Amino acid sequence: MTTRRSTIAIDGPAGAGKSTAARKLAAELAYEYVDSGALYRVVGLAAQERGVDGTDPEAAAAMVASLEIDVSEGASGQRVLLDGRDVTRAIRTPEAGERASRLAVLPAVRTALIARQRAYAARGGIVMEGRDIGTVVLPDAEHKFFVTASVDERARRRHAEHPEEALEAIRVAIVERDRRDEGRAVAPLRAAPDAEVVDTTGLSLAEVVDVLALKVRRPPRP
Ligand code: DC
Repeated sequence: MTTRRSTIAIDGPAGAGKSTAARKLAAELAYEYVDSGALYRVVGLAAQERGVDGTDPEAAAAMVASLEIDVSEGASGQRVLLDGRDVTRAIRTPEAGERASRLAVLPAVRTALIARQRAYAARGGIVMEGRDIGTVVLPDAEHKFFVTASVDERARRRHAEHPEEALEAIRVAIVERDRRDEGRAVAPLRAAPDAEVVDTTGLSLAEVVDVLALKVRRPPRP
């Protein structure tokens, strides 16, 4: 049984169920939960509001440096503030996610956000979730998981949450987002060599959390 408050890195593509699983795993272990995608989404929202896009890396870097981002864990979940304004819901729009993915290809944007993520993790007892946590942000994490699911399953799950969007359009957007997240030169989405790959296709959320918790709690190999 793991008693030390360790660091757990969970990566994977959009819609694989990693966010909900990571949050529940953190609650079960009484660990802190950090959703690194929220930081990228804040940057995406700010870019949307300020008319900044990925074509001007210097403008994007200057914008990121000027942002005051505050992420805190409250009774009703994670709360995200941008320059003192509550943007918890505003960052969840597909538009903010798209912008986030586009700006996430810029090294200056990533460097600024990685420093923040490492500061969160410094005390241990944390579950951090994203695309490059096990590979780049926290390469020394005690536990690394790469949570994934088939494209069709991810499209179905998203469609169940957003029935107003056409299933095929969702599927196309997922394939496109995967391509960009996996294909970027800096910190592409991929499993760390020492990560355990967990395929959630056909698994319920409770089953995914059970699989992760079991692996975290099992005794270390001699
Ligand atoms: O996990 P999410 O959908 O909230 O993330 C939005 C985008 O942010 C995602 O398409 C890519 C980027 N991102 C990243 O590049 N690195 C991370 N650690 C987390 C998110």
